[in-house]
Amino acid sequence: MSEVTTAPGGPLCGEATVPSDKSIAHRAILLGAAAEGLTRLHRCVLGADNQSTLAFVRSLGPVVRQHGDEIRIAGGGWDGLRAPTHPLDCGNSGTTMRLGAGLLGGRPFAARLTGDTSLTGRPMRRIIEPLRFMGVDIRGDAEDRPPLEIRGGRLRGITYRLPVASAQVKSAILIAGLQADGPTTVIEPERTRDHTERILLSLGATVNIETVTAEDGRQERHIMVPGGQRLRGASITLPGDFSSAAFLLVAAILVRGSDLLVRDVGLNPTRTALVDVLRAMGADLEVHQDVSGPAQAEPIGHIRARHSQLHGVAVDPALIPFLIDEIPLLCVAAACGTGVTRITGAGELRVKESDRIAVMATELRQRGVEVHELPDGMEIRGLQTSADPARLPLRGGSARSHGDHRVAMALAVGGLAAEGGITVDGAEAAEVSFPGFYEQLGRQRRTP
Ligand code: S3P
Repeated sequence: MSEVTTAPGGPLCGEATVPSDKSIAHRAILLGAAAEGLTRLHRCVLGADNQSTLAFVRSLGPVVRQHGDEIRIAGGGWDGLRAPTHPLDCGNSGTTMRLGAGLLGGRPFAARLTGDTSLTGRPMRRIIEPLRFMGVDIRGDAEDRPPLEIRGGRLRGITYRLPVASAQVKSAILIAGLQADGPTTVIEPERTRDHTERILLSLGATVNIETVTAEDGRQERHIMVPGGQRLRGASITLPGDFSSAAFLLVAAILVRGSDLLVRDVGLNPTRTALVDVLRAMGADLEVHQDVSGPAQAEPIGHIRARHSQLHGVAVDPALIPFLIDEIPLLCVAAACGTGVTRITGAGELRVKESDRIAVMATELRQRGVEVHELPDGMEIRGLQTSADPARLPLRGGSARSHGDHRVAMALAVGGLAAEGGITVDGAEAAEVSFPGFYEQLGRQRRTP
């Protein structure tokens, strides 16, 4: 386990770029492998999770080549995918396992999907159930956790209402649905990130999306894919990952004198609710969407952050799916502001790479923060006082990543606002989504 210390010092300035959007890259790699012809992915800077997906598709036959920051996948269509000769190791990546299960659900061979200790503790019933309805022979352990044994085959289309707001579950069903005998419809009572729908359109698939008013007046999305669809290889430029940019942006907000521009970031509105919440907390954030470039399936642009004083807010539970991965970071931002921040409707955090509610409550208390843990969120009392806004709010010392990349990076950002800094044990977890994070955090800083 490696340790990294971050400490107060110079402001974050200048311009930055961040690694490729992890969610979009997973989909582009998996679906590119199932498409016919060449898929070219541009601007690829991939972390360990995306490397797991690359290894996953290579084990199924398609040739994947890297040329600088371009990846070329020579797909041979659905039938070009072959039985793997060994278990498929998904590493730390829930997206690889869940979307990968959807991909394999329609393939007429057996595969075993496994992962690291975090991933093998995560719930899979959420995909096992709908994939079984479609006709997939799929099982996990007694509690439906990984490893997963899958034998795919002929699938029937289903209509399925998502019981949890999960883009991974939606995507697993839609990817299986492409291979089914009839249409498959996923009903989303709460909207989730829509990268799968967008990338399927880029690969020439038919996806029909309808907004329907439910009996209780709520707007639901019905996403339908006809069965028996072939995908066509395409050229796709990956935006920078908003979820990675968020760490640099919040670092700039917390450190006096900072003024930082992060370029070429994905601005898909199903991902960027942190911007709205931080603005409501008083953050100075400017978003410039790039409308001059080629028509893109995913919106892209620049975000500028300047140092600001933050104050507590009650986060609207309806926004949670659009900032779910940013909540550990939001907790740190809230702890460095004034007043109370209340996060609810975020029970899904308990089944991420770690139990992010319990872990952040523990780690913030170590930093002197008063945290009230809720079943589906938490209340955080910010340590800053309006009387002395220049004071460093957090208590310095050692912290633990709990093997979770977003926890590691959130705590490292907290170190910039902690007396004496914070030493994060297990800091290497950041490599899962943001290779070179600590170096970049250092590079953006000017000597005070
Ligand atoms: C992801 C969806 C989210 C998110 C995860 C990536 C995706 O998970 O937390 O980091 O790429 O679809 P859920 O779909 O389980 O909410």
